[in-house]
Amino acid sequence: MRLRGRVILITGASSGLGRAVATRLAARGGPKSGTRIAVLARRAGLLETLKEELERAGAEALALPGDALDPAFARDSVAEVVARWGRLDACLLNIGSGPTQDLRAVEVEDVLRVMRLNYDTLVHFLIPAAAAMKRQQEGGLIAHTNSLAGFVGLPLQGPYSAAKAAARVLMETAHLELRAHGIRTVTLCPGFIKTGTGRDAELRRPFELSEARAAREVIRAMERERAQTRFPGPLAALTRLARALPTSLREAALRRVLGVE
Ligand SMILES: NC(=O)c1ccc[n+]([C@@H]2O[C@H](COP(=O)([O-])OP(=O)(O)OC[C@H]3O[C@@H](n4cnc5c(N)ncnc54)[C@H](OP(=O)(O)O)[C@@H]3O)[C@@H](O)[C@H]2O)c1
Repeated sequence: MRLRGRVILITGASSGLGRAVATRLAARGGPKSGTRIAVLARRAGLLETLKEELERAGAEALALPGDALDPAFARDSVAEVVARWGRLDACLLNIGSGPTQDLRAVEVEDVLRVMRLNYDTLVHFLIPAAAAMKRQQEGGLIAHTNSLAGFVGLPLQGPYSAAKAAARVLMETAHLELRAHGIRTVTLCPGFIKTGTGRDAELRRPFELSEARAAREVIRAMERERAQTRFPGPLAALTRLARALPTSLREAALRRVLGVE
């Protein structure tokens, strides 16, 4: 799906990858492109600044400030986009974060909080967005920002790896079930990206991507409607290899590549 001229919802858009994708989409569209972008996150001030930036670039924009942990807010936000612009062509469900967590030192609540942020927020938007797109003759496109971390239980990232794995499997089923309604899904699995998130992690960040490069990859994958995209190539290959190795070799390789004792 060409994203120029479309109605697009981006969650987790106040910073990092979501913000970079929103600004790039607006800039690519140019003046009078008809691109309409709804941006959602909690920090209302940042969203307002972003909205103005998108409008200056020629897009129409809508700021949706609120907490995606609240399913009613997510449902109402999808409804607000459809009420404002008459449809929802595409969304990038992008909320997530992978804080450093050592299972030898966490509380139950710490683990569950990461699941809620990375998995529950996906569900909160996926279901209403799919319902809205089902009502459209042309269906729509739902993309989710996952991670290469979702393919293997990383050291110091266990809850995050588990949440992203759950989200990936849910999106696999969404891909096969929603197609009958013209709804295509895209799962984006980046490696490390130079954004605010994860900077506290005591991990090496091999093959780290700039926000701009990651945003380009995201937009390309959405427009090509690839069911799943893993990038950058070298880290994606290492992840595949790690999966194929016996446990003891995999653990040694992960410690070495990520610089963890
Ligand atoms: N950075 C990496 O190395 C990396 C690698 C692979 C995958 N990813 C994935 O890429 C996605 C974006 O990450 P990023 O690095 O761009 O992180 P980021 O800069 O921290 O952005 C996260 C976004 O989510 C929003 N958000 C967080 N909690 C929210 C909530 N409860 N309700 C509404 N919005 C909420 C944040 O805005 P507010 O704080 O204003 O709410 C922010 O806009 C995530 O899914 C992450 O897992 C990141």
